[in-house]
Amino acid sequence: MTLPTPPAASSLDGGCAFADGAYVPLSEAKVSLFDWGFTRSDVTYDVVGVWQGAFFRLDAHIERFFASMQALRMQITYDKAQVRAILHGCVRAAGLQSAYVGMVCTRGVAPKGVRDPRLAENRFYAYALPYVWIASPEKQKQGLDLHISQRVRIAPESVDPTVKNYHWLDLVQSLFDAYDGGHDTSCVVDGAGHIAEGPGFNLFMVKDGVVSTPARGVLMGISRQTALELCQRLGITAHAQPVTQQALRTADEVFITSTAGGVMPISKIDGVALTGLPGPGPVTQRLQEAYWAMHDEAAYRDPVDYSH
Ligand SMILES: Cc1ncc(COP(=O)(O)O)c(C=O)c1O
Repeated sequence: MTLPTPPAASSLDGGCAFADGAYVPLSEAKVSLFDWGFTRSDVTYDVVGVWQGAFFRLDAHIERFFASMQALRMQITYDKAQVRAILHGCVRAAGLQSAYVGMVCTRGVAPKGVRDPRLAENRFYAYALPYVWIASPEKQKQGLDLHISQRVRIAPESVDPTVKNYHWLDLVQSLFDAYDGGHDTSCVVDGAGHIAEGPGFNLFMVKDGVVSTPARGVLMGISRQTALELCQRLGITAHAQPVTQQALRTADEVFITSTAGGVMPISKIDGVALTGLPGPGPVTQRLQEAYWAMHDEAAYRDPVDYSH
């Protein structure tokens, strides 16, 4: 498939989408009412960050996106290099130095009256928006108040959580629970009642200097992977293993990871301050600094060409 010429740099100020094979302003990016991505959550997606003019770990996000499409038996007409070019085109057209960049594949629209997913033509969409934070840098200084919702994340045997998906009803309802109780954000539990993940993030705890994060039943977040790699670099012991609610509540430090904000501290759980911590704990702080410093390493940067 040949790609259209991307719009001139900064010509779609503030945001750009790629839909049905063309670059368009965000307000013109539309999905059919009859796309199974909309009617059945039959969709996969990925989100990558652009920070100070360069994508961070773009290859890892594109790899995960293609693996997710394969798992759902979806195919698009673009290869990985073309998807990369489209994402660059969106950011360049939007003129954004720091951006939140999405790629989406929907099952598409099946022919009239047909219920066979094999007959739908899969659709590819992409977009670049200004960078999105789960917690603003200001909020991160004091840390977030996390609500542990008793809602159970959709079973991994039903929907593979390692395929990034739009099965978010459990996560969104948990956010309502959190806001009703005056908390900042939420997480849900798995079938065994252990900590799973939150709306757009993975969870970590630190106890006696050892870092733990749930091993299964969650998205293998790229930021989660980055945090685990940074633990190794910094000589911090880290394990992917079950995390109980009690362990989280009595942890020395808790933090979350996401493309939308990196490593972000939790300072309270259900309104109760974690032991003696007014803000981010020392391990969280080290990882947070290392996370942003890693954005300057050539191996993880894919600079955007904004020249006219
Ligand atoms: C359910 C869920 N878990 C975890 C994450 C974090 O993944 P990443 O670090 O790749 O952004 C996300 C990101 O959107 C998510 O939706």
